[in-house]
Amino acid sequence: MAYGWVPEGVDITVPDASRVYDYALGGVHNFAVDRDFWHRAEAAFPEAGLVARTNRAFLGRAVRWLAEAGVRQFLDIGSGIPTLGNVHEVAQEANPAARVMYVDIDPIAVQQSRSLLADNPYARVIEGDLRDPETILYHPDVLQLLDFAEPVAVLTVAVLHFVPDSADPAGIMKRLGDAMVSGSYLVVSHLGPEVTPAGRELQERARKLYERTPTPVVIRDAAEVTELIGSDFEIVPPGVVGAADWHPDPDEADDPPQPTALVAVARKR
Ligand SMILES: C[S@@+](CC[C@H](N)C(=O)[O-])C[C@H]1O[C@@H](n2cnc3c(N)ncnc32)[C@H](O)[C@@H]1O
Repeated sequence: MAYGWVPEGVDITVPDASRVYDYALGGVHNFAVDRDFWHRAEAAFPEAGLVARTNRAFLGRAVRWLAEAGVRQFLDIGSGIPTLGNVHEVAQEANPAARVMYVDIDPIAVQQSRSLLADNPYARVIEGDLRDPETILYHPDVLQLLDFAEPVAVLTVAVLHFVPDSADPAGIMKRLGDAMVSGSYLVVSHLGPEVTPAGRELQERARKLYERTPTPVVIRDAAEVTELIGSDFEIVPPGVVGAADWHPDPDEADDPPQPTALVAVARKR
């Protein structure tokens, strides 16, 4: 079956990380294979939907926090298929001239972002791979939109857990950090281990399901996430915490802690 909105060459017979996440958040840019995969992941690990929503809520709060702190430029790597609370919407609500560059490896995410941003002079998208940071940093569209002589917030939200140790994620983060001036920020959200043995067992079942997709996931703990951020950055309070615990909105404060997505915001020294 042909779908007008699917770019040529996209394989819709295997689940894709961006489409699965889109479905988890209630989006429509996904296929039966993605939905079936998500249902299996949720059956294995019932917290999965909560993790996705909590991660997305953290992204919005972090961008708002940064925009209110005066950050005017955002480089969102692994940005996903546009959905509720996109980075440019949150950032430009705080500052209409905030610049947002989206990057994703998935052509569907790129195409959907491109059509959403058609009339937005300060937000753009490119196809790019986090594992090859220079092709992002030196992409002509990126250099045209962002000024690396000024602070930039680089977002790696729910994407680093798709980068295995063999691809040297710490080295990738260091190379990104080297391009950023003092006062720039890194935003990280990463799958972390469940706190209870029973929770870890369920999480492990879901992780094993991802092993059979083109994008297996790696679970890293707080110490490992801190290492990925590296010593060129100072992690701002409250530190590396569960997504729900990072500057929760007052009406979220009573939610039980959900440590599965570990998050942090860090400032370049
Ligand atoms: C779970 S979604 C997260 C979307 C968004 N950042 C959020 O947190 O709401 C992960 C995204 O990362 C993208 N991705 C995975 N590996 C990537 C890579 N090596 N380079 C760029 N994007 C990647 C996927 O295509 C997907 O859209």
